[in-house]
Amino acid sequence: MDTFRILGGQRLAGRIAVNGAKNAALPVLTTCLMTRQPCCFHGLPLLRDVQTQVKILNTLGIETRWQGRSVHTRLRDDYNSTAPYELLKTMRAGVCVLGPLLASRGQARVSLPGGCVIGERPIDLHLRGLEALGAEIDIEHGYVQATAPIGGLRGAEIYLGGTWGSSVTATHNVMCAAACARGRTVIECAACEPEVVDVANCLNAMGARISGAGSPRIIIDGVRRLTGADWKVIPDRIEAATFVVLAAITRSALTVTNCRPDHMLAFIHVMRQMGIDITVRGRRLEVAPSKRPRACEVVTLPYPAFPTDCQAQVMALACLADGASVITERIYPDRFMHAAELKRMGATISIANAQAVIQGVRNLEGAEIMASDLRASAALVLAGLAAKGETLLHRIYHIDRGYERIEERLRRLGARIERIPTPA
Ligand code: EPZ
Repeated sequence: MDTFRILGGQRLAGRIAVNGAKNAALPVLTTCLMTRQPCCFHGLPLLRDVQTQVKILNTLGIETRWQGRSVHTRLRDDYNSTAPYELLKTMRAGVCVLGPLLASRGQARVSLPGGCVIGERPIDLHLRGLEALGAEIDIEHGYVQATAPIGGLRGAEIYLGGTWGSSVTATHNVMCAAACARGRTVIECAACEPEVVDVANCLNAMGARISGAGSPRIIIDGVRRLTGADWKVIPDRIEAATFVVLAAITRSALTVTNCRPDHMLAFIHVMRQMGIDITVRGRRLEVAPSKRPRACEVVTLPYPAFPTDCQAQVMALACLADGASVITERIYPDRFMHAAELKRMGATISIANAQAVIQGVRNLEGAEIMASDLRASAALVLAGLAAKGETLLHRIYHIDRGYERIEERLRRLGARIERIPTPA
């Protein structure tokens, strides 16, 4: 498990381009299961999770060929419809094959995704939606066994909200299953994230009839079959936000390119509330050197509100703010593993009832810390780059899941960061 050695306190400068969105690529790739024709997906981030998703497709009879950032897919056979535990245990988004398999093969056997450090990751909403379309669902030996009725799935009115609001991947699975069901499906309390819209747009380009994606009500009129896809995924709004915080926390002038500011409005609003000088120019965000940030009050909620995937990064910035910040997690109440590591660096953070209160300090100090999950790892890299002295960040395989070659890209901005391979 590799380690990053980071020397903080360095001003950065330059431009950094955002890659394709991991959380669009992972569901979009599964649409190839819904057609017997070849597909091509472009602009993919070269990440471990994307490679795992491709492996899952391979086990399901899809031949794949990489060409740069594109993957070409072709249906080899549809004999196996089991997505195995050994792949899903490392990457929850493998559950996104459930709806597409049910739509195209009338059956699916998908390992229950494990939990992870950010919290329990149930799939009850996925199953509620698929049952509403007529699927028979059994849970046996850690697997979901889903079977469509003889005549195929049929459209339904489905309320897909849970205790914590809408679900991104549940919306994906139900939307895919409904795309080839008989009749009309209405999903109420659908997730509105841009990544859901990207999947809907891809499916429509394949001949589906989906309207309302991006709103809480999605209407799907089932079609008999879909053509192949030729689709480029949207830019990663979470990676873009991470780079904006990078500029703010190191008080650097950075330009973040190839992003979609229109997907980042809640985040940009919070940055401006914290006094960060951020200018939107088309598909670029220009951050000017900032003074000490102001404290903030943030609540994570489903899109278009402030994203939980940016919570750790903003907490890192809040550690250096002037005043006390309050961050409340309304999506994953336990998603604060990064707080203990930030406290090792001198931050003042107290957590109770899914709420963190961060009393800003003048400086963080480099320390030996440990990554716990993808976004926490990114936050800890940001903190290390702002801290005085050296930080050793262990278990950085987490960050490789969501940020491509991150140390190379940061070094190009002047960051002093190097990867120390752990001796085998
Ligand atoms: C997606 O996960 C993202 N992953 C997550 O990003 C992101 O944090 C999350 O949405 C919330 O925005 C992908 O898109 C691959 P949810 P997903 O279903 O779909 C509860 C990252 O760092 N829930 O929207 O799995 C759930 O417990 C990852 O890139 C149920 O109760 O999340 C949570 O509290 C981390 N029952 C809330 O809903 C269900 O059946 C939102 O979860 C499903 C979810």
